[in-house]
Amino acid sequence: MPLRICFVSSEVAPLAKSGGLGDVSAALPRFLHGDGHDVRVFLPFYSVIDTRELVLYPVEFIRNVEIPFGGRSLRFTAYTTRLPGSDLAVYPIHCPELYDRPSLYTFDPDEHLRFAMLSRAAIASCQHMGFSPEVVHCNDWHAALIPLYLRSVYAWDWLFRRTKTLLTIHNIGYQGVFSAGTIAELGLGGHERRLDPDDLRQGRINFLKTGILHADAVTTVSPTYAREIQTDAYGMGLAGLLRARRQSVVGILNGVDYGEWDPRTDVHLPVPYSIDDLSGKHRNKELLLAELGLPHESGVPVIGMVTRLTVQKGVDLLFDALPGALRKHDFRLVVLGSGDPKYEQFFEGLQASLPSRVRFYRGYHNALAHRIEAACDMFLMPSQYEPCGLNQMFSLRYGTVPIVRRTGGLADSVEPYDPAAGSGTGFVFEPFTPEALQSALEQALATYRDAAAWRQLMRRGMSRDFSWPAQGRRYVELYERLRGG
Ligand code: ADP
Ligand code: GLC
Repeated sequence: MPLRICFVSSEVAPLAKSGGLGDVSAALPRFLHGDGHDVRVFLPFYSVIDTRELVLYPVEFIRNVEIPFGGRSLRFTAYTTRLPGSDLAVYPIHCPELYDRPSLYTFDPDEHLRFAMLSRAAIASCQHMGFSPEVVHCNDWHAALIPLYLRSVYAWDWLFRRTKTLLTIHNIGYQGVFSAGTIAELGLGGHERRLDPDDLRQGRINFLKTGILHADAVTTVSPTYAREIQTDAYGMGLAGLLRARRQSVVGILNGVDYGEWDPRTDVHLPVPYSIDDLSGKHRNKELLLAELGLPHESGVPVIGMVTRLTVQKGVDLLFDALPGALRKHDFRLVVLGSGDPKYEQFFEGLQASLPSRVRFYRGYHNALAHRIEAACDMFLMPSQYEPCGLNQMFSLRYGTVPIVRRTGGLADSVEPYDPAAGSGTGFVFEPFTPEALQSALEQALATYRDAAAWRQLMRRGMSRDFSWPAQGRRYVELYERLRGG
């Protein structure tokens, strides 16, 4: 029986994306829609969404809907468009007062309202559509108040009497914590006492924690991360709460949208290639090096990184490991990313001191991300923590051997190379130390010199399948369990 799902996320690619949340919030609903389910996707109508290629119009009967937020009201209009590459309907929530900002996320004093509005507008839109979702799938802190809203402010509405809620934690490092003064503005209408009492005592509200407390089920994006966040080292203050709910905390590895990320069909590559003919990969390498103004020398490997530059991604390890490694070994480094100025400065400095070996492109560039995946020999992800990580899975498909830390989804998707057994798909290190990273890097560079072994390693990775049909099925099973009560 088809399911009715309301899917709420702060990012849906290609409309709005800062990282993997955007990829997943497009690919999973697209899969569900293709599988015959009625899924309706809600995101903010940020003014930074590029609407030039979209056919986008307001839903006639969801215009200027008033939502009371404490002392004042805000109005929204639900727009609708098709997710590019599919006929799935997505609903950008139009409220210029909140979403007309230069970036998806802000440090503005109304950040809590921006996502409380998303949550309530999704619920109110379901009401106006007469859509009775069996599951509301809430993603990250931005949508994590929905379970409480449904149990309190909207509990009167029969439309939701059988609705279950699922909260997916894509990253526990972002919890949406705001001062107690903001609570009155959420329009919880007397239900504030259902917020976490410790937080209330300490004068704050934590959106993600509220979601964990009230959702019917909680998932995260890999089995290893599901275990990790129940430990104090990784739980960022929420481990105890997650342990208390451990029966309903499940890890489901993200899938990859091979419609977007496959070297045979990737529209961003100058030369497509496949597991059966890797010559195109070599050509992509030459072309990328030329594009970036780096000399090409045969036998010299290129290591790539594409990442948000935040502490999560383990760049701190590179401060100690990379300069030495670059002195000792001959390889090129290509990095695409932006974020914390301290990390940007590090890569800028590295490029300035080794201009013929290091290229740092600061910024966000989707096509370049694809070309780096295709052109590099190795892909580096030394994450301190990584809920799932998509780039290592892209890398495997592109024959770009990942070097990763054994954490979260990296541990669940990259199999350590074992030369004796001729098995494995990448290089995996465990301790979060520059030495451990360095030794994985050296093992990779040494293996690269054995062309036959390297080709086999690439091919094993390319043959792995992390497609959505396999992973999406697990969500369908979970939704069905929730529907069945
Ligand atoms: P996270 O969500 O923590 O950033 P993931 O590995 O899950 O990490 O997903 C990152 C996604 O964002 C990938 O699709 C990656 O290609 C993309 N991405 C990250 N940084 C950039 C960038 N600077 N330019 C283009 N794409 C980027
Ligand atoms: C988060 C995580 C990343 C994950 C992505 C999609 O941004 O940092 O590991 O792949 O969400 O779930």
